[in-house]
Amino acid sequence: MSTRPADHGANAPTEPHPSDATPRIPSDEELARMSTDDLVRLGNQIDDLEVVSSRERFPVPGTRAEKRAERQVAGWFILAVIAGIAFLVAFIWWPWEYRSPEEEGAWVYALYTPIIGVTFGLSVFGVGMGVIAYSKKLLPEDLTIQQRHDGRSKEIDRRTAAARLVQTGQQSGIARRKLIYRSLGAAGGVLGLGVLVAAFGGLVKNPWKEGPESALLVTEWKSKHGERVYLRKNSGVPSDVVLVKAGDLEPGSMETVFPFREEEREDPEHLAEVLRSADSPVMLIRLRPNVAVIKREGQEDFNYGTLFAYSKICSHMGCPTSLYEDQTNRILCPCHQSQFQANEYAKPVFGPAARPLAQLPIAVDDQGYLYARSDFIEPVGPAFWERNS
Ligand code: FES
Repeated sequence: MSTRPADHGANAPTEPHPSDATPRIPSDEELARMSTDDLVRLGNQIDDLEVVSSRERFPVPGTRAEKRAERQVAGWFILAVIAGIAFLVAFIWWPWEYRSPEEEGAWVYALYTPIIGVTFGLSVFGVGMGVIAYSKKLLPEDLTIQQRHDGRSKEIDRRTAAARLVQTGQQSGIARRKLIYRSLGAAGGVLGLGVLVAAFGGLVKNPWKEGPESALLVTEWKSKHGERVYLRKNSGVPSDVVLVKAGDLEPGSMETVFPFREEEREDPEHLAEVLRSADSPVMLIRLRPNVAVIKREGQEDFNYGTLFAYSKICSHMGCPTSLYEDQTNRILCPCHQSQFQANEYAKPVFGPAARPLAQLPIAVDDQGYLYARSDFIEPVGPAFWERNS
């Protein structure tokens, strides 16, 4: 169906236009008794809508040409079904956990995002193309002219418009074209399922299956077999281990440090991995000696002298809180401007963060190297439902 505004110029039709005759408006009872066709006719009159021509694409149902057109339309829907199933399979079973480029299976992991993107896109594309092909090949071809109206539609307009939609549905022949009907239904179902899986699939897993050792509760700072976990700097070369001594930091300075275990010294892959691990980075801050300190209850001995170690993961939404301002002793998160008071157990003093940064308990061994006395005693980073601190 096509529409165009009224032509009041030289090309205006010489025949009397439907708008010239004002239709009688039926009562509500008469409206309720009218058939779909009657309502459509009435609607055409009221809307100044003139059907110039209308023709069935396949006046004789069931011809080979019609079947061929049906198969072409169904082909698009079937493509959508296959792509939708491929998307579901890839989304659920494709190895999605991060692998570094050196690890085995890294290329399979690298394909995860392209695969789910392409399959989902193909599924949507198939449905879209199927609908377009259906309207081009099978819907009746008509030419309709409608006068433009302003303002809100009246009740009678809405009733007749609804009747027109019903009639269009009947004329489309979708009910008797079983192949298209079913393939469209299957495509819509698979696509809908795909959207649901994409939206909620990430929630259907148990983050607590390892109990107290679950990923949200432990970090790389946890000692695995009772060994000491030292603080190391990132020199830029992952295999180059530079441990930190208490005297390495000037008063009023900050250094980002990462966990290191002696047993991992000869494992370059793990040394590199720890530097990338999201919950590893810790800000080691040396306050100036004259700064007044307020400690958090239960964490009174977490510092070593004027050295304090706080998780770098912002308690608002997990950005790295990389900025330390030593005049005010504030740690700044660049994402949403939360500020944390370093001399008051990193409590939030500005911005959207509502919880202090997690503090790492530190000590010094007999050679002067700093190590973590334990893992953090609370989860690092933002809130989650099960969190109770
Ligand atoms: S993530 Fe730090 S303020 Fe939002």
